[in-house]
Amino acid sequence: MIRKIMLFLLAALVIIQFIHPEKNKSEGPQKNFIGNSFSIPEDVKTIMAKACNDCHSNNSTYPWYAKIQPVHWWLDKHINDGKNHLNFDEYTHKSLRYQYHKMEETIDMVKKGEMPLNSYTWTHKDAKLTDTEKTKIIDWANAVMDNMKAKYPIDSLIRKKS
Ligand code: HEC
Repeated sequence: MIRKIMLFLLAALVIIQFIHPEKNKSEGPQKNFIGNSFSIPEDVKTIMAKACNDCHSNNSTYPWYAKIQPVHWWLDKHINDGKNHLNFDEYTHKSLRYQYHKMEETIDMVKKGEMPLNSYTWTHKDAKLTDTEKTKIIDWANAVMDNMKAKYPIDSLIRKKS
């Protein structure tokens, strides 16, 4: 019995190596990229590229072990989950409130050290943000919010508390 189960599991492991979800790759300029509406300093771009974009953009860089299943599924889950919550490449066509709020959340997550995810920094050591890097992202997100506040009435950015 045990032998049969082991063989079955082994076969399953071999078979799933041939099943891969579609990769999160869309090269070229992204129409709704946040940087099209708000300027992003080069150093902030660099930080986002190494620490956020794998899960919050339309382009992920996959590690070699993504070729091994079920690792690819596990990574895919994080990417989809991350993108659903925040996608810097699908930003500017969202409501003003959404855009404003996601910057608040970015500040919050980075301040608390919840982003990037621990499971990511274990394998991407350089994605672990230093205090200087955190400050750079936070200052940038604040600048985006200030920029919005200067352009639009506050009612269109924050829902009035009644
Ligand atoms: C390994 C994938 C991964 C990386 C890298 C990553 N995130 Fe996330 N992020 C997620 C996932 C998954 C969620 C949703 C679940 C959660 O909140 O834990 C999320 C949620 C968020 C949210 C909350 C959005 C909401 O709707 O609540 C913000 C803001 C955020 N991430 C910002 C960042 C920033 C900024 C970076 C880079 C400094 C980053 N993330 C790096 C996967 C990632």
